Amino acid sequence: MKKNTAAIVLTLITIFSVAAFVIYFWASPSAGLGPEQPIPFSHNVHVAVKQIQCQYCHPYVAYSNFPGIPPVEKCLHCHNYIIEKHPQIQKEHKYFNTQTSTPWVKVNYVAEHVLFNHQRHINNKIACRECHGPVENIHRLPPKNWQMGMCLECHNKKDANVDCWLACHS
Ligand code: HEC
Ligand code: HEC
Ligand code: HEC
Ligand code: HEC
Repeated sequence: MKKNTAAIVLTLITIFSVAAFVIYFWASPSAGLGPEQPIPFSHNVHVAVKQIQCQYCHPYVAYSNFPGIPPVEKCLHCHNYIIEKHPQIQKEHKYFNTQTSTPWVKVNYVAEHVLFNHQRHINNKIACRECHGPVENIHRLPPKNWQMGMCLECHNKKDANVDCWLACHS
């Protein structure tokens, strides 16, 4: 009898832990998304809900090889006044006060020998979402490892230069 109870309890514990595990990995909002970021910054909140333009935060995207991830000063332009007591915003102040740049985890990768420049693409009126997907719907950006095939597929479709060994490789 006592043995039986122990067995039942153990079985229940097992079932609950498996369920918790499954829910944690498959049903939580972060399922299948990118790496955890130092501050859980959401493109969905800022772009879709609050209607902030991409280029407000990524101002150099059309001019330089480095689109720029906003420095914490820019976040604080707003967050000195908006939800300024939020614990994640307190974290921003800590980065700001210690002059540490926020250690954002990069999610887009191209092979090291590939030169990618946004300028030609944006001047050609290719929307951000054609390459980055609907970031305005996303809380945590997923990783994307750019393979040459992904570049060529679009270049073929749009009749762009596919002489990639000359055009894209340094
Ligand atoms: C142009 C203004 C503006 C800028 C710039 C801005 N934010 Fe926000 N942010 C907002 C607004 C508005 C909200 C929604 C506040 C609310 O829920 O009332 C928000 C919400 C948030 C939240 C809470 C989100 C949530 O899930 O509830 C975090 C965290 C945050 N911002 C981080 C950042 C970081 C980090 C940066 C800089 C990279 C940044 N913000 C730049 C306006 C801004
Ligand atoms: C309020 C500021 C803000 C706005 C507006 C914003 N971003 Fe961002 N973006 C960030 C921050 C902060 C990061 C770094 C954290 C992350 O990856 O989520 C980032 C990261 C990214 C990255 C990934 C960079 C990497 O690591 O490879 C892409 C792509 C991107 N943003 C595209 C966009 C596009 C497209 C829009 C407009 C639809 C946009 N962003 C609007 C602040 C912003
Ligand atoms: C033709 C495809 C394409 C388009 C269009 C495009 N991107 Fe990108 N983007 C990329 C690739 C590829 C990378 C990775 C490049 C790298 O790491 O050097 C990238 C990287 C980024 C990054 C991260 C840069 C970093 O320093 O880590 C940001 C931010 C970004 N893009 C924003 C934007 C915004 C905003 C737009 C629209 C105005 C846009 N992109 C349009 C392909 C594109
Ligand atoms: C969504 C479509 C699309 C994707 C994805 C794309 N490109 Fe392009 N790319 C274009 C178009 C269209 C042009 C032509 C622009 C022009 O003629 O000014 C272009 C132009 C270029 C050029 C300039 C070519 C020249 O004639 O000098 C280079 C280099 C380049 N892309 C590299 C890349 C690389 C590297 C990737 C992948 C990481 C990539 N592109 C992904 C559409 C794309």
